[in-house]
Amino acid sequence: MPEKKAILEKLASVQYPGLERSIVDLKIVDSVETEGERPIITLSMQNDEAFEILRERLADLFGGNVEVRRKAMAKKRDMNYGHTANPNNRAPYAKRVIAVTSGKGGVGKSTVSVNLAVALAQKGFKVGLLDADVYGPNIPRMLGTADEKLRWGENDKIIPSENFGIRIMSVGLTTPTSDTPLVWRSSVAVSALIQFLEDVDWGELDFLVIDMPPGTGDIQLTMAQELPITAGVIVTTPQPVALDDVSRAIMMFKDIHVPIGGLVENMSFFVAPDTGKRYDIFGTGGGEATAKRYDIPFLGQIPLDMQIREFSDSGTPPVAMGDDVQKGYYRTVAENLLAQIL
Ligand SMILES: Nc1ncnc2c1ncn2[C@@H]1O[C@H](COP(=O)(O)OP(=O)(O)OP(=O)(O)O)[C@@H](O)[C@H]1O
Ligand SMILES: [Mg+2]
Repeated sequence: MPEKKAILEKLASVQYPGLERSIVDLKIVDSVETEGERPIITLSMQNDEAFEILRERLADLFGGNVEVRRKAMAKKRDMNYGHTANPNNRAPYAKRVIAVTSGKGGVGKSTVSVNLAVALAQKGFKVGLLDADVYGPNIPRMLGTADEKLRWGENDKIIPSENFGIRIMSVGLTTPTSDTPLVWRSSVAVSALIQFLEDVDWGELDFLVIDMPPGTGDIQLTMAQELPITAGVIVTTPQPVALDDVSRAIMMFKDIHVPIGGLVENMSFFVAPDTGKRYDIFGTGGGEATAKRYDIPFLGQIPLDMQIREFSDSGTPPVAMGDDVQKGYYRTVAENLLAQIL
């Protein structure tokens, strides 16, 4: 019907809140009907907040004469939420891609990425770790490769750094010093990451682990469109404000069809080194309850531990250099994730 086509064309100009992509692009528009002159638009999405914003945007767009309905996406136990949007595959050398994300900054994404990657390598898998946090690349410091510079191989491909049995690539290797600021438009950041996917000599990988920047922005979305992500791992801390943000991240990934491998709760509790007494600084059970609420697997808890911070800052991942208890936290996360995806 011609008027439906016109409506869809109008919808193509409506962006998903917080993203530079249209709701048509993201396949959120489920159907377009008309009742006389009045369009009836059904959106297939989970995020309440984003839905309300879109309802207002559509009301503005059609001068108030529109009905916006919502079709809740079916809850599924399996790893695919909704239909797969059929992403590109810029990393055909990797059997599985794990994206480590969080709603908020500073919750321990990079620490989890590093130790998860090393834990997988310790199990005998071939693992690459891509630092996609182009504005705050911390991975080289955490793996003791911060002094290395970008090297090109004979095949005109970038040679990744290697340490603790994993291959590593980070924008941090392209800057002269660790405090060089990167003032990049997000489109430039995105092309740098695509180059790291395509022009790094990763070799064959069982796992490509990606440490994402915090939040739910353009880089997350691009990765979801350029790579078939096997599983998103979401890191949170247990306090309610962090859990609000993580809920937004979960909803966004469901809306853009990224399968969620599970939730990791970091800085869960503190064990005093002198007395061994446990303190639940941020409350207890928040992460597990959130995982239940959104029907995603809970992968494990990691306590707030001074040594974990010290190991990480000195370039020696706790899963490699820590004691058995510290190693155990990350190995449990790795095992639980493998149980979801193998
Ligand atoms: N379980 C833990 N116990 C103690 N310190 C931790 C723990 N996890 C992470 N940290 C420390 O907290 C700080 C932030 O962690 P990290 O850099 O991994 O967070 P992030 O989510 O990647 O942050 P950003 O959003 O800035 O990328 C680091 O100094 C790290 O060493
Ligand atoms: Mg980080």
